[in-house]
Amino acid sequence: MRTQVAIVGAGPAGLLLSHLLGLRGIESVIIENRSRAYVEARQRAGVLEQGTVDTLLESGVGERLKQEGLRHDGIYLQWPGERHRINFAELCGRSVWVYGQTEMVKDLIEARLAAGQQLQFEVSGVTLEDLDGDRPVARYIDSGGGRRHLDADIVVGADGFHGVSRPSIPAPRRRTWERDYPFAWLGILATVPPSTDELIYVWHPRGFALHSMRSPSVSRLYLQVDPGEKIENWPDERIWAELAQRMQLEGWSLREGPVTDKSITPMRSFVSTPMRYGRLFLVGDAAHIVPPTGAKGLNLAVSDVRLLAAALGEYFAGSGAGPGSGSAAGREYWLNRYPDDALAQVWRKTHFSWWMTTMLHIPGGPVPGADFEQQLQLAQLRYVTSSVAAATELAENYTGLPLRI
Ligand code: FAD
Ligand code: DHB
Repeated sequence: MRTQVAIVGAGPAGLLLSHLLGLRGIESVIIENRSRAYVEARQRAGVLEQGTVDTLLESGVGERLKQEGLRHDGIYLQWPGERHRINFAELCGRSVWVYGQTEMVKDLIEARLAAGQQLQFEVSGVTLEDLDGDRPVARYIDSGGGRRHLDADIVVGADGFHGVSRPSIPAPRRRTWERDYPFAWLGILATVPPSTDELIYVWHPRGFALHSMRSPSVSRLYLQVDPGEKIENWPDERIWAELAQRMQLEGWSLREGPVTDKSITPMRSFVSTPMRYGRLFLVGDAAHIVPPTGAKGLNLAVSDVRLLAAALGEYFAGSGAGPGSGSAAGREYWLNRYPDDALAQVWRKTHFSWWMTTMLHIPGGPVPGADFEQQLQLAQLRYVTSSVAAATELAENYTGLPLRI
């Protein structure tokens, strides 16, 4: 089979890229190793930046988001005895939207299939070859067991942190930056109306907690736990009791309900370069991971995709709006810019996620100087909630900065 763009992975990055390329008249094929039901049910992110929402609305996949998404104009920051609101709308004129990644993925899959595009689930054994030549190829075994190969002009690795694309770049050409944090998030989904109108990020000596939501009837809550924690050690009653204790505030109470999903996620920062190797381009978690505090992972995947879709649009249109317009070099201009443009966003969001994580989590175990760290965290929280300049920095980053910064 032949296509213009072979995309590995039907997560939000791969699906949105295929959709945006389709609008530009560029054909793509997505190969995904999980089933459709699995990718539609995988519980992950839930907060969309303004730029992400604009992209979905402008590209015609935002109908349900417009009806069911919840616009939030701020968040709360809390520590024992105090809860303060950061007013995004007032500070930077932007908002965020609560809309589950599961819902975004469902909308994109439906749009892909309605457009008659190739979307192959349950493939296996994907390998990428000849990436540094003009005719890259993706080989794989389809869901029926048949061996297939996909010849393409461009291959995009949108296959997440554990995918095959990043390791297809020769190791000597790769450089990585990494930080593992000494804690993890235990997340639950519960069928109970949220106990808050906007998200509450909680600093507490027992550990961080977060009250988020998915809809007016579904709450999403997180607890900081040790990275080695086993989910079996956390029956629902223990989770609710711990949440209530960390989130406690006079005059406020946490509503409990049936837990429908429960998991523990490790926290790490990870950046790998290059994001382009020959005809291979990496987007989203395939190239970078941020810790979840601040909800940047999904939004960063979307900003990569917006940049790459625009660059591929120029490339396939053959116009090359850059210097050397019309020539082979002109066609390549935006493709060549993609890695640097994307990395500027990657490092900005990596910094913000690291900063939010460091401000709000309590390092576990007997850490020398732990009391000192906690006083610094509280000083920072008081500053962010009292200085307009500091609050604006948080608001700008949380709601998303312009693509080219
Ligand atoms: P993914 O969503 O990982 O998609 C990659 C796709 O590629 C998957 O469908 C996978 O099945 C497929 N794939 C992998 N390997 C292969 C292969 N060899 N062949 C074919 N297909 C392959 N972000 C937040 O902002 N807030 C959160 O609360 C949050 N929670 C998270 C919880 C977990 C457990 C994880 C892992 C991530 C979480 N994130 C969160 C991050 C956010 O969900 C990701 O940044 C986002 O999913 C990135 O999208 P992506 O399309 O790049 O990668
Ligand atoms: C959610 C996840 C986050 O990492 C965050 O900072 C806010 C909300 C969520 O899953 O709803």
